[in-house]
Amino acid sequence: MTTETANTTLKPDTMDAIRALTKRFPEPDGALLTALRIAEREVGFINPHVCEQVAEAIGMPPAKVWGVVSFYSTFRRDTDGKYIIYVCSTLPCALRGSEKVFDYVADKLGVKNGETTTDKKFTLRKAECLGSCGTAPCLQINQSEYYENLDFKKIDEILEDLGNDKSPARHHTV
Ligand code: FES
Repeated sequence: MTTETANTTLKPDTMDAIRALTKRFPEPDGALLTALRIAEREVGFINPHVCEQVAEAIGMPPAKVWGVVSFYSTFRRDTDGKYIIYVCSTLPCALRGSEKVFDYVADKLGVKNGETTTDKKFTLRKAECLGSCGTAPCLQINQSEYYENLDFKKIDEILEDLGNDKSPARHHTV
């Protein structure tokens, strides 16, 4: 974890805020997820250099912080594409065909779970319940817009719109 670039250096105020945050928990580790969100908001993503700084502010080994980032699929990484597609794979969506949805998106983009297209436009991730079980199967883009009751035609249109950097509003339900 030696990646270091000027634009991923956290502001001194941010480091101070993270240090102050740790004092609100019995163990400093309790502040980790919030600290990572603060850092992600400032830099735009989490990479090893950001992890090192958060680890220093909290007083944890950088490898442990990176392990947490690796566990949660919701942290944006510097290697992610412009659009992160989260396809729900939890049971209610699975019963309504989410595996076929995932495979269809993966085939169309030519990537596997966790991979990013070569043009850096799309990253595909399986996700746990997105909280929209009643309209399964569903996917979410960049942890904001939901697309629900999916079928292959809708997926084609969503990917086409995103590929052209247009909001696929016709299927945007939240
Ligand atoms: S199981 Fe897919 S949104 Fe809940």
